[in-house]
Amino acid sequence: MEVGFQMAIKRFSIGNIVLFQGEALEVLGRLGNQSVGAVITDPPYASSGVSAITKAQAPSQKYQGIHVKNKHPEFNGENRDQRSFHFWSSLWASECYRIAREGAPICVFSDWRQLPTTTDYLQSGGFTFNGIVPWDKTESCRPARGKFRCQAEYIAWGFKGRCQSDKHPVYLSGAIRERVNPKEKLHMTAKPVAVMAHLIQVVPSGETVLDPFMGSGSTGVAAIHAGLPFIGIEATVEYFAVAKKRLSSAYKAHHKGQ
Ligand SMILES: C[S@@+](CC[C@H](N)C(=O)[O-])C[C@H]1O[C@@H](n2cnc3c(N)ncnc32)[C@H](O)[C@@H]1O
Repeated sequence: MEVGFQMAIKRFSIGNIVLFQGEALEVLGRLGNQSVGAVITDPPYASSGVSAITKAQAPSQKYQGIHVKNKHPEFNGENRDQRSFHFWSSLWASECYRIAREGAPICVFSDWRQLPTTTDYLQSGGFTFNGIVPWDKTESCRPARGKFRCQAEYIAWGFKGRCQSDKHPVYLSGAIRERVNPKEKLHMTAKPVAVMAHLIQVVPSGETVLDPFMGSGSTGVAAIHAGLPFIGIEATVEYFAVAKKRLSSAYKAHHKGQ
């Protein structure tokens, strides 16, 4: 059984970039204690999983309008209800806590529905919750008649233990305003590299960035641009292939330009 599990995980590396295709909990379980310097991730939100109908919805039904031309592959992890989402998220957050060095920053994306659960599981995983960075996606988001436009997502952030500002004395803006360009998206719920690049600034120089839900690898691209080592994990075969190709090109381009 154990051998079967190991064989199910695929590994790819280029320079200081290491990617795993497999279940996050399974791969995280194989990473050493205190071996990364930051966790920056955009996990499945499992948002609106309140009824049997919404839990059974494919991600494309929630996140992709029927008129979207550039269709992306489906992905797993969106079918959990509130309690199981909290429980599962605490499991992976605890593993990240074990793997993170003392003082490592953590940044986790959430939407408005899952924000209270996200700040809870960050803490049940062991991290010290420090605040929220709102990401304003601008007025390019769909307007809602009679309602406020749903144009923000949120990054809950904190540290393993205390912020070690003596090692990395930066002063960072606490809000991000950046539109999503659908033409640049390589994943149904891709985050713009500019947003990830803003978050990466919190990582001290030379520290390894871990993203256990890397999707198309936007965190990895930002890590490469910042010259940081990166470990990415992705369960969906199609998105792993996208990330592998994208990060290989980004790594080669970055090192050619130096
Ligand atoms: C919100 S997306 C990340 C998108 C990414 N930020 C980007 O810019 O492309 C979350 C990803 O987590 C992956 N995922 C879901 N459950 C997983 C699991 N248990 N282990 C590893 N990856 C998982 C999904 O396949 C999906 O690609």
